[in-house]
Amino acid sequence: MKIAVIGTGYVGLVTGTCFSNSGNDVTCIDIDEKKIAGLKQGEIPIYEPGLKEMVLRNAEEGRLKFTTDTPAGVREAEIVYLAVGTPQGDDGSADLSAMWAVVKAIAPHLREDAIVVTKSTVPVGTNATIYGMLQELTGRDCDVASNPEFLKEGAAIDDFMKPDRVVVGVRRPEVSDKLEQLYSPFLRTEKPFLSMSPESAEMTKYVANALLATKISFINEMANLCEKMGGDINDVRRGIGHDSRIGFAFLFPGVGYGGSCFPKDVRALNAMTVSKGLEPTMLRAVDEINERQKSVMANKLDAHFGGDLSGKRIAIWGLAFKPETDDIREAPALVLVDWLLEKGAAVVAHDPEAIPNVRAELGDKIEYSERRMATLDGADALCILTDWKAYHQPDFAEMYQLLKEPVVLDGRNLYDPARMAARGYCYHSIGRVSVDGRNGKK
Ligand code: UDX
Repeated sequence: MKIAVIGTGYVGLVTGTCFSNSGNDVTCIDIDEKKIAGLKQGEIPIYEPGLKEMVLRNAEEGRLKFTTDTPAGVREAEIVYLAVGTPQGDDGSADLSAMWAVVKAIAPHLREDAIVVTKSTVPVGTNATIYGMLQELTGRDCDVASNPEFLKEGAAIDDFMKPDRVVVGVRRPEVSDKLEQLYSPFLRTEKPFLSMSPESAEMTKYVANALLATKISFINEMANLCEKMGGDINDVRRGIGHDSRIGFAFLFPGVGYGGSCFPKDVRALNAMTVSKGLEPTMLRAVDEINERQKSVMANKLDAHFGGDLSGKRIAIWGLAFKPETDDIREAPALVLVDWLLEKGAAVVAHDPEAIPNVRAELGDKIEYSERRMATLDGADALCILTDWKAYHQPDFAEMYQLLKEPVVLDGRNLYDPARMAARGYCYHSIGRVSVDGRNGKK
């Protein structure tokens, strides 16, 4: 099929690349000339495992093209995917200005039988609005569809190629049939293709993200309580997870969720609820707990150092909001860094991928290190914010030697408290009682 994808951000680029990889003829369109020029040279604007190789291969074979020329890009397309950004507006709702601009720009150039599909997460009712706009702009009934994307950063290619399900929201069954054909190479393992109304599809995306965010805020609240009660949240997590009604997924406590989806989508759904005169009690709590949880490491540092961080040197492992990405949007690590700088501490940070993005935001307000161990040299404490694999099994003896004080604050529960105490560390984690094995040794 001939496909145009408008917007070469995370979702657009992955969508376009994966559809080209299954043999379709895909044109990715963006108004950002620098980005398109880069993509034409094989420069990928984001870090995502496997993406670069796939872009290069499909571009070389002529199935994946990049352009800033919207009319030329959509003119022959049977399916036009809209994957532009829908950032959070001032009132918490999604800002759709980019979406409206694109609809106006494509309308005069669409094929008569083109299907316009929204991939971006858009407020419920957006597809109906786009349908109305296109009707007015083209003077005919254009097919529109919603096809929300559930991919996770860091696992985007795999999630796209092997989805748990594909959801489409359509007004006519023929549109659903065409999209099912497009997705058939990815559904060979008998995963379901679910067709519903555009409103239900739009709602599905928000409800999925809000429920996942709720699980995280729930377990974080329980972790904080568990710690006070003298329990170990990891044992509790195992204790509940074996109940098949509960399960294990998305119940890892931490430093709060970040990224481009959960915070924004929970707030957008909140705003939608309020706009319909309903009370978003649960959604408000989920967001509030998460904001509070982003301070959990600061509170632990404050307690450890008796409220005085000035002149302390704090090492941070992990700046990205989660592993396998360079994305720092709403990253809990940045909240901690701001707090530390305000308190007069010096920060030295490591991250395998996110340093360039953090440097662009913070410049030389903090020190950066390409080597994780080098951050520890002379540091008063180490804080772990992201569960990158490289942090799971460090050389604890070397760490002990390098740190000025063997103090580790672990926001991802990577280590076993009893073992850390036996190694001579003072170790604080999430939802577990702190241990201190220092015995005045250092
Ligand atoms: C999420 C959804 O998973 C995806 O389906 C949707 O399309 C976009 O939003 P993403 O933001 O890439 O994907 O990251 P995800 O892996 O879901 O993690 C989100 C945040 O939750 C991270 O900050 C992560 O550290 C945190 N998290 C996740 C926890 O704190 N505990 C968990 O148990 C799981």
